[in-house]
Amino acid sequence: MDSKTNILTDKLAKAYLGGGTHRITQQHAKHKLTARERIDYLLDSGSFEEIGILVTHRSTDFGMEKELYFGDGVVTGYGNIKGRLVYIFAQDFTVFGGSLSETHAEKICKIMDLALKVGAPLIGLNDSGGARIQEGVKSLGGYADIFHRNVKASGIIPQISAIMGPCAGGAVYSPAITDFTLMVEHSSYMFVTGPNVVKTVTNEAVSSEALGGAHTHATKSGVAHITAINDVECLDQIINLLSYLPQNNTKTTTKLSYNLQDEIREELTAIVPDNANKPYDMRRIIYGIIDLDSFFEIHKEYAENIIVGFARLGGKSIGIVANQPLCLAGVLDVNSSKKAARFVRFCDSFNIPILVLVDVPGFLPGTDQEWNGIISNGAKLLYALSEATVPRITVITRKAYGGAYDVMNSKHIGADMNFAWPTAEIAVMGAKGASEIIFKKEIKNADNPIAKLAEKEFEYASAFANPYRAAQRGFIDEIILPKDTRRKLIKAFCMLEDKSVELPKRKHGNIPL
Ligand code: COA
Repeated sequence: MDSKTNILTDKLAKAYLGGGTHRITQQHAKHKLTARERIDYLLDSGSFEEIGILVTHRSTDFGMEKELYFGDGVVTGYGNIKGRLVYIFAQDFTVFGGSLSETHAEKICKIMDLALKVGAPLIGLNDSGGARIQEGVKSLGGYADIFHRNVKASGIIPQISAIMGPCAGGAVYSPAITDFTLMVEHSSYMFVTGPNVVKTVTNEAVSSEALGGAHTHATKSGVAHITAINDVECLDQIINLLSYLPQNNTKTTTKLSYNLQDEIREELTAIVPDNANKPYDMRRIIYGIIDLDSFFEIHKEYAENIIVGFARLGGKSIGIVANQPLCLAGVLDVNSSKKAARFVRFCDSFNIPILVLVDVPGFLPGTDQEWNGIISNGAKLLYALSEATVPRITVITRKAYGGAYDVMNSKHIGADMNFAWPTAEIAVMGAKGASEIIFKKEIKNADNPIAKLAEKEFEYASAFANPYRAAQRGFIDEIILPKDTRRKLIKAFCMLEDKSVELPKRKHGNIPL
């Protein structure tokens, strides 16, 4: 018995060492944790149960049969985060550079299947040189098996990808399908083709970092939702993110206990400036409404004219979409529409109520926007909000102009409760632009066109630059004082808690992708 036990002990000891101490040292020298260290840090102490630790690859080409490592470059299994079940895989760069073989893919697929059957979040820690070059099409097939499962699990269980090293070629498409992608600054990169291929094909010289580093994807492409300065911060962000999400699409998020003493928030009163052309930081309004320190922003550095993120209101998780007057006056453009639409869709898939804060002067004009499809991209946000059946509440803080008024969770596209502050201006456009068009002749023929324009502007603003016409029609349910916003929202979301909408049967809608 003892010798049989020793065989197992020996094998497990080898497996725990991955590619060996030398490669572990190399991993640490790059300021990266190993796959096992990452799992240890992420999961509740002692909760990890490994699946498939003794798996090895089946390749016999290029003498590979002589190079076998237990686990085959990926650690897979399940465990808990703050007591909640999650499934996890962590690629082990110390074994064949974490490259994906047929068996490596099978291990990932096995836990994906379990996660979907049980209904628990899936977390992937990516650190890999891509397809196992010695295996060719078998490893490509392995990727496709994973992608297919990512798609099947989409909208059913939350899927989170952290990029903690290389992620290139086909490997990028699994994170791209998952709900959230986190990247570690300076030690991770993602691209479909690397700098060498780029140089050959387009003659552009670009570094890995500039082509696909965390900063690039957080600011330019929007591929990274969240960035972290190192492995530990990245893992902490996963723990934090998960706290806002339910286990699966049939569950709601856990309500944290919260002391509701501070419902009146006086600090909200003076944020919107008297001058409608003056910017202000919408984040101050968000902080003024939500539970203290509960904002978890997504896509912070991408399309900054719109803010999206999770927060808690009276202990309950909500998703917030808010125009940001500090950037481009808060206009909707191609990128902000895409950013907000994807976030709304996530919230709706996972029963997270949505709060929309509106201060929008319209859509961004210009050839760049039109040629890049502001029509179809703006329609994404319109579609996503229209289709969302979770509780949806709007607060208009200032401008709600033109088509953007409709898009930003108006009553007409199915919002449940629509509030406006007394500073709201709900109109087809700003008073100046409107006056220049409808009083064009009168202004032109006036002795003093400038004075006439000012007079007409005042006339138009008095009639339309307020929330009262919309309230008369019932498009706004109530005009509320800023300081009461938190209290009104907590009560309204509570009132909507049991909202249920039956949708007609269809395969799926045809969102303008
Ligand atoms: N298949 C098989 N083995 C791979 C691999 C792959 N795709 N990528 C890396 N490895 C192995 C290396 O041979 C090396 O093995 P060793 O420890 O026995 O020497 C080990 O992983 C580490 O790779 P190394 O190149 O030394 O690490 P690095 O940090 O300098 O570079 C990469 C990392 C990912 C940039 C580099 O390995 C690379 O370019 N890999 C190939 C990427 C690719 O084209 N993949 C296929 C397309 S999807």
